[in-house]
Amino acid sequence: MKIMVLNGPNLNFLGIREKDIYGQDNYQSVCKYIMDKFDDRDVEINIFQSNIEGEMINILQMAYFEKYDGVVMNPGAYTHTSIALYDAIKSINIPTVEVHLSNVHQREEFRHKSYTAPACVGQICGFGKEGYILAIEGLIVRLSEKISVNKQNI
Ligand code: DQA
Repeated sequence: MKIMVLNGPNLNFLGIREKDIYGQDNYQSVCKYIMDKFDDRDVEINIFQSNIEGEMINILQMAYFEKYDGVVMNPGAYTHTSIALYDAIKSINIPTVEVHLSNVHQREEFRHKSYTAPACVGQICGFGKEGYILAIEGLIVRLSEKISVNKQNI
């Protein structure tokens, strides 16, 4: 099972930006936290980050060409603006979970709307870095169920 984690703009500034909202951990340590959690599991995880919308679309298309089974995505502020990312998630047709470190629904009104969530199988917000772990676990369950359903059909 191959899962992509894709982080959007400003997430590389974790540990520097608004620590009261996003926590003290820097980006590298959050990535390490995710990788270590699944170290002994039968799942390949690759983490990407870009501050550029079009580059995020290229990375999502790469998930298609490289046959990823699932995507966990924190689109950052593009969540609230990007029809192009919505289209990209729809285009690749790979189960995608949207993650936000903060509880976007408790914050400014403009963060309540997600353009990307309707293209996703689910959304997790408000659990900090643990959200990535929950999203990956959810995808693993979902993908395993799909694999066993497919086997039954053979
Ligand atoms: C965020 C929430 C977004 O509203 C914000 O623009 C971010 C981070 C989060 O992880 O809580 O950059 O996606």
